[in-house]
Amino acid sequence: MTLRYNDVIANSRESIFKTDMTSKSKMTKPRSGRFSVPADAFVEQFTQSVSYDQRLYHYDIMGSIAHACMLAKVGVLTEEECSQIVRGLETIEAEIKQNKFNWDTALEDVHMNIEAALIERIGDAGKKLHTGRSRNDQVATDLRLYLRAEVEAICQSLENVMLTLLDLAGREAGTIMPGFTHLQTAQPITFGHHMLAWFEMLYRDRTRLADCQQRINVLPLGAGALAGTSYPIDRAHTAKLLGFADITENSLDAVSDRDFAIEFCGCAALIMMHLSRFSEELILWLSQAFDFISLDDAWCTGSSIMPQKKNPDIPELVRGKTARVYGHLVSLLALMKAQPLAYNRDNQEDKEALFDTIDTVKACLQAYAGMIPAISVRADNMREAAQQGYSTATDLADYLVRKGVAFRDAHAAVGQAVQYALNAQKALSELTLKELQKFSATIANDVFACLTLEGSVAARKHFGGTAPAQVKAAIQRGRKRLEQIMVKKE
Ligand code: ARG
Repeated sequence: MTLRYNDVIANSRESIFKTDMTSKSKMTKPRSGRFSVPADAFVEQFTQSVSYDQRLYHYDIMGSIAHACMLAKVGVLTEEECSQIVRGLETIEAEIKQNKFNWDTALEDVHMNIEAALIERIGDAGKKLHTGRSRNDQVATDLRLYLRAEVEAICQSLENVMLTLLDLAGREAGTIMPGFTHLQTAQPITFGHHMLAWFEMLYRDRTRLADCQQRINVLPLGAGALAGTSYPIDRAHTAKLLGFADITENSLDAVSDRDFAIEFCGCAALIMMHLSRFSEELILWLSQAFDFISLDDAWCTGSSIMPQKKNPDIPELVRGKTARVYGHLVSLLALMKAQPLAYNRDNQEDKEALFDTIDTVKACLQAYAGMIPAISVRADNMREAAQQGYSTATDLADYLVRKGVAFRDAHAAVGQAVQYALNAQKALSELTLKELQKFSATIANDVFACLTLEGSVAARKHFGGTAPAQVKAAIQRGRKRLEQIMVKKE
C-alpha cells in the first residue's frame, strides 16, 4: 500500500467542478430509515462537505480497504465479501482518478459518496463495510492518513529549499555585507553566514514537523462513533496495514480532538513566519535603496503603468500569504475550544482551513526553492554599505580590551572616536594614528588591521561565527545534518 502523496490535490480540485450541487439523487443515505421527508434543499447544501472533502478520497478508500481486511481477519466478513469490497473500492478509486465519478451533495461527504457507490456496484457485501465503524472514526482516520502524506511532502520541499540555501551560502561564504540590528548598520558579516541563519530556521521547522508527525501517525479507527464497538476488532492489524505507528488509547479522544491538525498548523505558521521574514529581507535588498541583490527576470513581475518596474511580487505574495496561514491556525483553535466530548459536527469545519494551509505552505516552499537559485549578489554594493555606519567600531573597542582597557572604558573611548570621525566626515580606518591616539594612548599601528571589514569578520572565527572559514565549516555540518534527517525519513 503506497502512502505517498499522489496528485490527490490536483484530482480533487478538478472534480469539485463535477460535484452535483443540485442533487438529483434519490439516495439520502445518511437519513435513511429515521426520517420521513428528504432534507430541505438548503439543509443539504449547508451540511454537505463533499465539494471539498472529496480531496480525501484516496485515504478514505485506503482506510476502508484496511478496515475490510481486518473485519475478514477476525471473521466478521468472509474472505469473499472482503475481496469484493476491495475490488469494488479499487474500481471506484480508478473512476475518481479519471474524473468519471459523480459526486452527490445529497450523500453529504466523501465517505457516504464512496460507500453508496460501493453498494451500487457490489450490492450486499458493500452494505457490510461500515460494520464496527462510524464516520466519526473514519474521518479522523482519513484526515490523519492525508496529513501524514502531506507532511512528508512538505518536509521534502523544506529540504529542497535548505539545499538551495547551502549552495548559495557556499558561493558567497566570504562575501561581506553589513549586518543590522534595528535595521541600522551594526557589524560586518558574510552573506554566507546570513543565508545559514535561514537554513537554521528551516532546519528547526523540519524537525518540528518530524515531531508533529509522531502525533499524527496514530490510528483512531475502532473508536466507532465515540464508545468503541462490540465487534471483536483487531486494531493492531488495521494499524499495521495502514502503517500507523500507534493506536489511540481512548475512543472519545480519538473521534473528537483535532490537536494533531492544529499542531501541524502551528508548525506551518512558523514556517510561514520564517519565509515571511526572509521575504521582507529580499524585498528590502531588491529595492533601489539597498540594491544588495538582483533576481532573475523569470522570478519578477512588471507594472501595468510604469514600464521601468521590476517588482518582487513573489516574496511579497509569500509575506502576504503568511496572514491566511496564521488565520487558519486561529480558526482551528477557536473551532475546538468550546466543544464538549465527543464528536461534534463543528469538526467538519476543520477541513478547508487545513487544506488551504497545506496548499499555501507547499506553494510558498516551491516558490523559494525556485527563487533562491535565481538570486545574484551585488557584492560591491554590500561592501560599500558595510563600510558605512562605523561597522567596525566594536572591533576597535575589542582591540582596546586586548591592550588591557576595561570594556566599558573602551566602549566610551570608541564612542568619542566615532563622534570625532562623524564630524570629520571620515571612516574610522581613515583617521590617522595620531587622531586615534587622542581617544586612547594604547592605540598603536596594528589597529588598522582590525578596522578593515575583512579583519572584522575573520576575527569572529569561533563556532557559530561569521568568519568565512566558519561559514564553510557550518555548511559542511549543515549538509551532514540535513542528510541525517533525509535518511531517517526513508
Ligand atoms: N463530514 C463529517 C466531518 O467532516 C464526517 C463525520 C460526520 N459524522 C456525523 N456523525 N455526522 O466531520
